Amino acid sequence: MPNPSTPPTRIVITGASSGIGEALALAYAEPGVALFLSGRDAARLEAVAERCRGAGATVRADTVDVTDRARMAGWIGDIGGAGGLDLVVANAGISGGSGGIGGEDEEQVRDIFAVNLAGVLNTVLPVLPVMQRQGGGQIAIMSSLAGFRGLPSAPAYAASKAAVLAYGDALRVEQADRGIGVSVICPGFVVSRITDANDFPMPFLMEAGKAAQIIKRGLAKGRRRIAFPWPMRLAVWLLAALPVALTDPVLARSPRKG
Ligand SMILES: NC(=O)c1ccc[n+]([C@@H]2O[C@H](COP(=O)([O-])OP(=O)(O)OC[C@H]3O[C@@H](n4cnc5c(N)ncnc54)[C@H](OP(=O)(O)O)[C@@H]3O)[C@@H](O)[C@H]2O)c1
Repeated sequence: MPNPSTPPTRIVITGASSGIGEALALAYAEPGVALFLSGRDAARLEAVAERCRGAGATVRADTVDVTDRARMAGWIGDIGGAGGLDLVVANAGISGGSGGIGGEDEEQVRDIFAVNLAGVLNTVLPVLPVMQRQGGGQIAIMSSLAGFRGLPSAPAYAASKAAVLAYGDALRVEQADRGIGVSVICPGFVVSRITDANDFPMPFLMEAGKAAQIIKRGLAKGRRRIAFPWPMRLAVWLLAALPVALTDPVLARSPRKG
């Protein structure tokens, strides 16, 4: 996979109005960096943009819903056409319960796939022609350790994350000879509005700022997969490797969203 030799200076982050996306925007914010941030909540997004400007970055913040295919194509095309794209982080995502409803009802199942899967495609697909034209770039897709094995606490969420994990792994190999690096990010539990909605114990829960530093370091090294923390990574690896006849009963006893 191509190793990004120089730090990115034109960076797109979707879902930058809170949580991991906000922490990533702040981690990259410095003089000489242009950040292009999106989210739906204008007030929260602008507050993040202001903090990034305070750190010396140039910031354009736009309220763009990742499920709006046409607007996403226009937004990415506009930024790409105005000066290119070094790094695009397809981060925006939701889980059941983060809207305060709890569990995954039918609407949530459909919304989760619309945001976490179609939203990632709406971000990545318009980026590809831009990066192909400029002869390279780096794409980071936000999956999750929940994408390694279907989890009864969040079936649609886990499935959406498995889909983008497989998509990113395939895209990386497909795009490598065009100089485009693709990293898939698989965090465990990170403090955010998503985990704020969980009322069960979350092992190795990590602050968003620390997660952002791990992700930034991994992207600078051009890592194919950035999966952390390692004890949780080992746990999901085992869950995925063992026969389902063994793991189903274990997962049946695991805590679920309320
Ligand atoms: N926290 C964890 O433990 C964890 C673990 C593994 C993976 N992840 C993934 O990390 C990503 C970030 O989530 P987070 O944990 O930081 O949660 P968060 O604090 O809820 O942040 C989610 C971000 O996505 C944005 N977003 C949601 N729906 C959107 C839409 N339709 N269009 C545009 N933006 C949208 C939200 O912005 P608005 O509210 O302004 O729309 C917000 O900025 C997600 O993909 C999540 O699945 C999180």
